[in-house]
Amino acid sequence: MKGKKIVLGITGGIAAYKSAEIASRLKKSGADVRVVMTRHATEFISPRTFQEITKNPVAVEMFADVVNFDESHISLANFADVILIAPATANFLAKMAHGIADDLLTTTILATPAQVIVSPAMNTVMLENPATQDNLKILKSRGIKIIEPATGKLACGTVGKGRLPEPAEICAYIEKFFDDDKNLNLRGKKILVTAGGTVEPIDPVRYIGNRSSGKMGFELAAASRRHGADVILISAKDLPVIDGVQFVKVESAEEMRVAVLSEYDTADAVIMSAAVSDYRVKNFSAQKIKKDADTLTLELVKNPDILKELGRLKKSQVLIGFAAETENLLEYARKKLDEKNLDMIVANDVTAEGAGFSVDTNIASLIYRGGTVENFPKMSKRDLAEKIVERLAKIFQSGE
Ligand code: C5P
Repeated sequence: MKGKKIVLGITGGIAAYKSAEIASRLKKSGADVRVVMTRHATEFISPRTFQEITKNPVAVEMFADVVNFDESHISLANFADVILIAPATANFLAKMAHGIADDLLTTTILATPAQVIVSPAMNTVMLENPATQDNLKILKSRGIKIIEPATGKLACGTVGKGRLPEPAEICAYIEKFFDDDKNLNLRGKKILVTAGGTVEPIDPVRYIGNRSSGKMGFELAAASRRHGADVILISAKDLPVIDGVQFVKVESAEEMRVAVLSEYDTADAVIMSAAVSDYRVKNFSAQKIKKDADTLTLELVKNPDILKELGRLKKSQVLIGFAAETENLLEYARKKLDEKNLDMIVANDVTAEGAGFSVDTNIASLIYRGGTVENFPKMSKRDLAEKIVERLAKIFQSGE
């Protein structure tokens, strides 16, 4: 772990004494360790211990100059490759889950782009309390990694789940995280992601659209960014901005085509998750169409197939497409993979419960060039995005 920058956050549980060994092991493995303690943690173990172990100042207070600290929450937040909270108390997990930032450690977590890993430690009843379980679920859904508490004798005298795992195990977890990260990292890769259903104007007021929410594309952009890629998200939908992702808003298929093509030459991968309208209105009316007639006929013309065009122009770019189908899923998806010259296609049956548009989950199969199929169960779009991006990183690796 030479040169890795780790912020070790210590909260106020009896297991805090074990954090000294965690800090020591991390330091010995070559990491640059900065310790941030909550005020309660200092009741269990002295900041001085960590200062001696890490040879760095230990930060506690946000404003008061109680212990030497020379870094603001922002610089600690930006310094970290990883923030490890060990032990993480129930109270601290609750604060994290709700975005509370009332001391240096909570504020640092809220301000960091780094991966946060928590190692909860508490009495079994507190751990199993629905409030704690819900908080853990929230944190997990936001991409926080959770080291499972160990089972054994607890400080309160009972036996059960809730112990802080041994420092060696926690450090092994961190080491594995960095290993995986090295394999899965997309630093230096430029990835274009498209999202949402395109909007095809009829007149200045009306349009033809589709049910795509853009959620899958936004999750793909966020996942690519988490893995370190330079991401351009070309979207027909406005969803909350993603930190560090360049956002390009488009409306029609043609606008999306132009935006994608202008970045394509220098892109390493394109993930076309947008639901591009297959047709547009032939004659756009510059004025609002009056409703005088009983019937109205719109003539539609075919839109360009952006992905097919990318497939034709492809040099070394990795191309990932989506196939949203209502029948013969795998057969149609395979056909698209071939026709559009893709490296991978994400096939999903949009009629299945928990899949498709608007919902937060999806059920998908990934089909690779060469024919291999990987089936996934129902999972959040966030988790599916993570899987897709991990597979993309592997495709890059296999091509290097
Ligand atoms: O052929 P089909 O529309 O089912 O293919 C879906 C895939 O092709 C998606 O990845 C979608 O983003 C892309 N597509 C496109 N241009 C179109 C239609 C679809 O790039 N006009």
